[in-house]
Amino acid sequence: MTFDAPTLIAAKRDGRALSDAAIDWLIESYTAGRVADEQMSALLMAIFLRGMDARETARWTAAMISSGEQLDWRDLRRHGELLPTVDKHSTGGVGDKITLPLVAVVAACGAAVPQASGRGLGHTGGTLDKLESIAGFDATLSTQRLRDQLVDVGAAIFAAGALAPADAKLYALRDITATVESLPLIASSVMSKKLAEGAGALVLDVKVGSGAFMKSPQQARELADMMVALGAAHGVPTRAVLTDMNTPLGSTVGNALEVAEALEVLAGGGPADVVALILTLAIEMLALAGRDGRDPAASLSDGTAMDRFTAMIAAQGGDLSVPLPVAACSETVTAPRSGTMGDIDAMAVGLAAWRLGAGRTRPGEAVQAGAGVRIHRRPGEPVSAGAALFTLYTDTPERFAPAFAELDGGYAVLGTLDNVDNPGKRP
Ligand code: URA
Repeated sequence: MTFDAPTLIAAKRDGRALSDAAIDWLIESYTAGRVADEQMSALLMAIFLRGMDARETARWTAAMISSGEQLDWRDLRRHGELLPTVDKHSTGGVGDKITLPLVAVVAACGAAVPQASGRGLGHTGGTLDKLESIAGFDATLSTQRLRDQLVDVGAAIFAAGALAPADAKLYALRDITATVESLPLIASSVMSKKLAEGAGALVLDVKVGSGAFMKSPQQARELADMMVALGAAHGVPTRAVLTDMNTPLGSTVGNALEVAEALEVLAGGGPADVVALILTLAIEMLALAGRDGRDPAASLSDGTAMDRFTAMIAAQGGDLSVPLPVAACSETVTAPRSGTMGDIDAMAVGLAAWRLGAGRTRPGEAVQAGAGVRIHRRPGEPVSAGAALFTLYTDTPERFAPAFAELDGGYAVLGTLDNVDNPGKRP
């Protein structure tokens, strides 16, 4: 059977399902450069509008897995004993630095985490962009180095690289064609990378709320069910946890700012919401890995998770003794009067950080390590007139105006007497 892109685009545009052979052909031809970006963009938009059924989504995922290397850790041993592997993936949020301490906590509790990670997508941050703000950190690991690091340290965070290269191309194309927020495209994107990575079990952190790709709990549940089914179909025990993304996680959004906050958590402190989510996900991961006898909270208080994190960073060439980059310029938003901090909209803060240079507008663009937003008051906290609410950081001050525009309307100080919302005061 021979295929051509215009016929398949028209079929999906008109609401018809694509056959298994057609999907295999599309993914293979696109990865090899025989289907053009323009054609794949049109197909992605047709999928975005028409959807894919369960069979199509499963085949699309399998074809993306087959587009590259597949890792296998089933024979991984430490001191002669089999070492279970487990990973987690978040569907993308604002201030989501959870992966950094989490991999170290799980490693400290006796499982190994081979985490293939990506870069920022739209307003959401990327784990690799965060880690690359550490001097010398290298996310490209050969399979042998990865294997050695999993045995020696118990965790590695690496660029997906040769894993599911079809997804890498499609992910970049979706980012610039407004086709990210499609359930089958997100499910297949996440699961192709994670199944190719070879972890023995998976925990999915499915974000729901204003700062997430999934805005409603119903959509998030549907996405979670789709991904859990894809994991099961490939024999990988998979659990999903739905977590809130209406408010940014923790007090920082931006690459180096988030690494600093992750280090605070590993030192036994850090914001309560970040610590709570790390522990929730660690408990799920350790249960799936059969290592649930260990207390993940203890690894944060006794320094063993910090030891794993520093060992992982050092093994990947990073030097934590070099101060993290700080942006050249900052501006602080202050409270116009006393009251209580109202809700902080995750999307507004995520877009502000992105405008400041923490994310990209074009694939391959460099991000600013120091750019981002520090949140000084969390929702519900008391605020006095003139107190700092947010500090914005960038190396390029012309970015402040668009960032303020994104932040405007994304928060309020609630008055104590009349409860009237009040925008904060800009410098
Ligand atoms: N994360 C992914 O890996 N892919 C998506 O499509 C969205 C979030």
